Amino acid sequence: MMQSFIVAVSLLGARADECSDVSVFDKVDCKFGSEDECHSNGCCWQPVDPNPDNTPWCYFKAADVKTCSLAGSPQEPFTSSEVLEVRKLFEANLDIQGSGMVVAAPDHNTGPGGDYYYAWMRDGALSMHALLQIATSVAEVEQKMDHWVDWVERSYQQIDPNGDIMTEPKFNIPDGTPFSGGWCRPQNDGPGLRAVTLMAYADKKPAIAGRAWELVKMQLDWVVANYTSNGCDLWEEVQSNDFFWNRFTMRKALLLGSKFAAEIGKDESRASSYSSTARTIESSLRDHIDDQGFVFESTNRKMDTAVIEAFNVGDMGDGLFSPLSKEAIMTLVGLTKLYCNEYDVNQQAAKAGTSGVLFGRYKGDSYDGGNPWVLLTASAATLLYRQAAAMAVGGNIEDSSAAQELSSLLGQKVSAQNLLGAGDAILNRMRAFLTNGLHMNEQIDRNSGLLTSAKDLTWNYANVLKAMQARGVASQSLVAFVSV
Ligand SMILES: *[C@@H]1O[C@H](CO)[C@@H](O)[C@H](O)[C@H]1NC(C)=O
Repeated sequence: MMQSFIVAVSLLGARADECSDVSVFDKVDCKFGSEDECHSNGCCWQPVDPNPDNTPWCYFKAADVKTCSLAGSPQEPFTSSEVLEVRKLFEANLDIQGSGMVVAAPDHNTGPGGDYYYAWMRDGALSMHALLQIATSVAEVEQKMDHWVDWVERSYQQIDPNGDIMTEPKFNIPDGTPFSGGWCRPQNDGPGLRAVTLMAYADKKPAIAGRAWELVKMQLDWVVANYTSNGCDLWEEVQSNDFFWNRFTMRKALLLGSKFAAEIGKDESRASSYSSTARTIESSLRDHIDDQGFVFESTNRKMDTAVIEAFNVGDMGDGLFSPLSKEAIMTLVGLTKLYCNEYDVNQQAAKAGTSGVLFGRYKGDSYDGGNPWVLLTASAATLLYRQAAAMAVGGNIEDSSAAQELSSLLGQKVSAQNLLGAGDAILNRMRAFLTNGLHMNEQIDRNSGLLTSAKDLTWNYANVLKAMQARGVASQSLVAFVSV
């Protein structure tokens, strides 16, 4: 009698532990909506209310959760002719009807997101910068770039019924008037992102430097005066006055702008105000790093792949949040674990022993069901390729705990070759879900793996092309290093 009582208690104890040992972060949705069903399917039940992060109530026991891996040797995700095909899809979305405007996606009915047939200030600036980056000569992209510069000038002549034209997110194609419906406003990342693209173009085509300076001056004056003002995040959902994405990209705009002001504008006073604001912003970025080295987007949106996109877009090769920094690694590792648990497609891959992880926007995303995004999956691959390139030329990881974390993510030792293989594992996994040639939708369904939401999203193509370019740099560095 006594014996069986003890056995029963310890069994119950063991059962409770298997569930209570799972941290909130590690909860993987077992997808049963009632406590009875959940338990009878061998899962754990723990109500969470309120539940702002959409933590599952019914979740797998620790032993039933699989760890994702990025192990793999290099395996080219897209051949060079496929890259050209992607570039065609990309360029079809630029300079719509000769307006210079970039359509977010040529899709009038994306499902929950509605019509994407508009020009977003952010997407346009990022896409035109990507076009410039992948071009082998200025002549190849000059017409589209010139039209875009015309459009940027034209946009500031618009009267904005919604507020300040500098922070208007979205415009009608092709007439260029601001979208007049309700939207998340203001969005403060546009001026800095546009300035970066304008300066990059002026660098390649000095004849437009004077025109670029007039625009850059206005945009960076806005950043200096207003970088701490409240606004929406790049996903147009939450408000803050301190997003990592905004600040890290603004810092780059200001530092480049400081040089541009001195050289092109012959304006010492702006040159110094831009650089001093950049330094102030730089010190504020430290507040985004938690004690593990993980970088969060904002206090109200902690785990967000916008930070990885920021590492890529805001990088200046000057060491701050460089690809092998503790912060870049810990953020990449943290987000990989998050999405490994959060998306069934990633758990399926882990169970099958397939390398590669698809990345979404942020923890608890529920837009269109909350899915992996192509553009962010490409962004994660880009970071790994940049890590590979840095390591190939002799860079190393100074922080030993970060090195350890990265090595367990790779499932092998950290080397340039293995980092390249990890980036490939991500892109090859993403590629496996393309079912309409190389056309890419905004999202990949978290459960079924079907392409979903906006068709032919321009930012996808920009990021896949940038990833493949970063891969080229990494593999060239590897070849050069090996042949030495
Ligand atoms: C800062 O933002 C305010 C509000 O949108 C605007 O009125 C002001 O002109 C901006 N400052 C600069 C220098 O652009």
